[in-house]
Order: sequence, then C-alpha cells, then structure tokens
Amino acid sequence: MFFNLKLHEDEPIYIQVYGYLKEIIENGMLSKDSKLPSTREMASMIDVSRTTIVKAYELLEDNNLVYTIKGRGTFVSKVPVVKQSEWEINWENNITNYAKMSEKLDIMKHEKLYKKGMISFKSIAPDESLFDVEEVKRAFLNRISIEGEKLLNYGYAKGYKPLIDFIMEYMREKGVNTKGKDLIITNGFTEGFDIVLSSIVQKGDNIICENPTHNTAIKLMKLHQLSIIGIDIDEDGIDLEKIKNALKHNPIKAAYLIPSYHNPTGMVMSYEKMENVYNLLKKHKVPIVEDGFNEELQHLGSHIAPIATICGEENSVIYWKFIKNFIPRNENRMGIWRQETYRCA
Ligand SMILES: Cc1ncc(COP(=O)(O)O)c(C=O)c1O
Repeated sequence: MFFNLKLHEDEPIYIQVYGYLKEIIENGMLSKDSKLPSTREMASMIDVSRTTIVKAYELLEDNNLVYTIKGRGTFVSKVPVVKQSEWEINWENNITNYAKMSEKLDIMKHEKLYKKGMISFKSIAPDESLFDVEEVKRAFLNRISIEGEKLLNYGYAKGYKPLIDFIMEYMREKGVNTKGKDLIITNGFTEGFDIVLSSIVQKGDNIICENPTHNTAIKLMKLHQLSIIGIDIDEDGIDLEKIKNALKHNPIKAAYLIPSYHNPTGMVMSYEKMENVYNLLKKHKVPIVEDGFNEELQHLGSHIAPIATICGEENSVIYWKFIKNFIPRNENRMGIWRQETYRCA
C-alpha cells in the first residue's frame, strides 16, 4: 500500500506523504490502532530521507490522525471514516433465479420461528447435553499432538486421510466390498448430495425417490431442475410395483433412497426388499444414491446393512453416511413431520 505513493515535484515531499497517509486513514484503509511503518522503514520504502518522514508523521499527529507511543511507534488514531459514496446494490434485482429458488425452498427460513419452550420437529438435532464434550476435546488434543502444525495446514483435497482410511475400514467391517471404491469427506448432506447430483444428472433428468423424503434432498433435486418421481412407501420400504411402473414409463437416471431410518417416516427397509430393489434397478441400469445417514441408530443387536453391501464389487451404489454417528446416543429422534413439506409429488 505504501509503495503506491507516487511523488511529484510540485509540492514538498513531506506534504505529499502526509496527504497520502491522511487519505488512506480517512478512507478506513488503515484501521484504528494499527501501526505505521517506522520512519526508517517508510523512508527506505519510498526512497526519501528519514527527516521527511519524521516531518510527515509530526503533521499527522498535529492533526490528530495518529498518536505516538514512545519506544513503540506511531499508531492510527480513531478517525471517522469518510463515506465513499451512497451506492447500494439492489440485490433483490441482482440475484439469480437459483439463489431465489434456494431461499424459497429452504423450509427453515419459512416455517414458524423458534420460541423458548418450543419443541421443533422440523430438524433432528440431538439434545446437546448428550454430547461427550470431554471425549471430543481429548480426541482433538491427541490428534494435534500427533500431527502438530500439519493439522492446521491445507490437507488432502478429498478429506483428512486418516479419517478416510478409518471410514473405509469401518465400511469393510459393515460388509461393504470396498475394492475399487473411493471416498470423499464433505461438509454434510447438502454438499455431498450436490456433488453427486452435479456429477451424474442433468436438468430435466428423471430421478426416483421415496415419497415422502428428506426435505433437503427435495430442495436440491428441484434446484438441479430434475423431474422427481416420488414412489410411495409402506412399512418395509419403497413400493416395488410402483417402481416397476415408473421404470416402464420413464427413462430413469438415478434413484435416491434412504433404506434405514428413513426421514421423515422412520421406516427401515427389510433386507429382502433391499435385494429386490437393488436387482430391479440393476436390471434397468439405474444407479442408486444410498443415504445411510442414520444407520447406526439401532438400540439392540447389530447395525442394519446398507444396500451398498448387496452390490459387492459392482459399482452402481453411491453410498454416503455423514458423520452423524460421530456423536453417539442421538437416538431421540421423533417421527412427526409435515406431510406437505416432505412430499415430492
Ligand atoms: C435423510 C437424511 N440424510 C442426511 C442427513 C444429514 O444431513 P447433514 O449432513 O446436513 O447433517 C439428514 C439430516 O437430517 C437426513 O435426514
């Protein structure tokens, strides 16, 4: 910034230095209490004598633009920032239809505002008192002790490598054949599903999903301008006959399914139904985007296997599980939902 000062011969140099610094201070480019370069540094930066800079700084101080602390340097005073202009963008007219639609489809923004004492069923945030904060602190300290500064730097673009390796192993233990499969860490469902949709479907493509389904999934599918074919579900999952019917009449690009602890119904698809759904979609070459977000919520016995275990070495299931199960014991989810919010057709 100080290098930008262009000197000319029409005015004494200390006046020019003073004028330049005054302007950037009054425009808010140097914030209150920020330190100016020492007179020696400034003189060498703009290639003038130190006496010239001392005179310029004295003038700034006389005009209450800076103050000096003996032995520490010269600092910017509290100066009212001169407003540049009254220009204001009318964002209402300047944002894209995509942004407008995102806002419109966001149920959090349009439902009743939270009031103290209210129990909201529109999202499934667990009770914070159940989080094991001490364990999380311990884990963080362990990791930073092992990795040191490396942990704070840019990392592997796909996500933290030890976490990827851990999840890969975890999936193998669940029975998923990970041969030839890959994994990326995302910031949650919205980012993950958006990446998947951007990669495998295009505007106008048909996509099958359970009806009702997860509201954020509906939002994203609509934002990608997909034609959503909602298939009714019963107690053990999506209706096979209705999938067959949809497949008969439309070319389907993908199927988005939540087989375990389906949101919003809580339904768990039977293993037999999972196999039938998988084989039917395989026959019609429809890849499955499987959302196993809450698979570990089992109270008794072992976890429910995902459809991803059925596909073996085949590559037609894109599976995800976001780190919901990072926080244990969050089983206190309630099965109440607003029909119209979650219905996709
Ligand atoms: C069906 C479904 N998938 C995924 C998620 C995970 O979302 P997030 O990663 O944003 O927590 C949720 C959260 O409610 C969900 O209901």
